[in-house]
Amino acid sequence: MTQSLLNPIALSPAVQLRNAVALAPMAGMTDAPMRTLAWSFGAGHVVSEMVSAKPELWHTEKSRLRRVGLPEINPNAVQIAGDDPVTMAASAQRLVDHGAQLIDINFGCPAKKVCRRAAGSALLADIDGIARIVAAVAAAVEVPVTVKTRTGLTPEDNAGLAAAVAAEQSGAALVVLHARSRACRFKGVVDYARIRPITKRLAIPVLVNGDIDSGASAQEALAKSGAAGIMVGRGAMGQPWLFAELLGQPVPPLGERVAIMQLHLTMLHDFYGAESGFRIARKHIEAYLQRFSAPALRRDFMQLDGAAAQVNWLLAHAAAIEDKASAHACLSVDRAA
Ligand SMILES: Cc1cc2nc3c(=O)[nH]c(=O)nc-3n(C[C@H](O)[C@H](O)[C@H](O)COP(=O)(O)O)c2cc1C
Repeated sequence: MTQSLLNPIALSPAVQLRNAVALAPMAGMTDAPMRTLAWSFGAGHVVSEMVSAKPELWHTEKSRLRRVGLPEINPNAVQIAGDDPVTMAASAQRLVDHGAQLIDINFGCPAKKVCRRAAGSALLADIDGIARIVAAVAAAVEVPVTVKTRTGLTPEDNAGLAAAVAAEQSGAALVVLHARSRACRFKGVVDYARIRPITKRLAIPVLVNGDIDSGASAQEALAKSGAAGIMVGRGAMGQPWLFAELLGQPVPPLGERVAIMQLHLTMLHDFYGAESGFRIARKHIEAYLQRFSAPALRRDFMQLDGAAAQVNWLLAHAAAIEDKASAHACLSVDRAA
């Protein structure tokens, strides 16, 4: 465990992150149940799934659920994406009126739906646009405004540095850097060292993001980037206790980890309702079963057709899942010996 990860990060006189280990926003993944679990295992910062900056798109059930604030979490951070400073400022204001305690702006998403409207990481081609958006949002709200972006448009491009500087000068309180370019999307090797010029240049804190899934990768990311903290996305899927591990806290024993998977399942059913919940639960439970090294059981779980069937199946297979996971752990130890 890296001691500095325990340090709080101050974003304003009124708002601080309780430590330097954050859960990354992931659309379709970091919903209220996932954020609740990550927070309960010690994450110092969790960010909602991205919300469109256009309030006219907020009436859907999906959008409403994405904006749900969680009273136990502080700050309650909501991410927005868009390309128009005026609309984004108005949306930020509205979100703060509804309880958001931090606004994060997405300048990192490579998804076509976002980028076709020149939002997300497409704005790395328009640093003035980034400056205008951050300035407008920061002027509109009293809560901290943070920014999440990438190293550049291509692996050679330095737009991430320019974007981070522009964001700081326009009022951002923190920048998260995914150590990949937009062109790399989610693949290819992360290049933490490309973040070092950014951490050197900025006075505000920087979080490093990308492929962090263990104490070793966290240490490497911090050492190479010089960042104040880390943000973990896919590494936390199917193992929300990773935050405890990264913070040097005890990790629950195997039996408890299986029980946490069962708890996560019921949290999803409760949050979305049984009908949507059982479909949404598939990708989450799949991630756990993958980590428990139970691929055949994973296939069986994916065939289940309903919330009650999922709950009963997990109960009936808890012992088998534990067996698979402990057999795999023994095999790994044997191999290492
Ligand atoms: C399924 C999925 C959804 C994502 N959604 C968002 C999002 O809504 N906003 C955002 O800023 N980044 C989003 N990301 C990017 C992650 O926040 C993170 O930057 C990226 O996955 C790299 O970190 P990791 O290797 O720890 O997962 C998403 C990533 C994934 C895999």
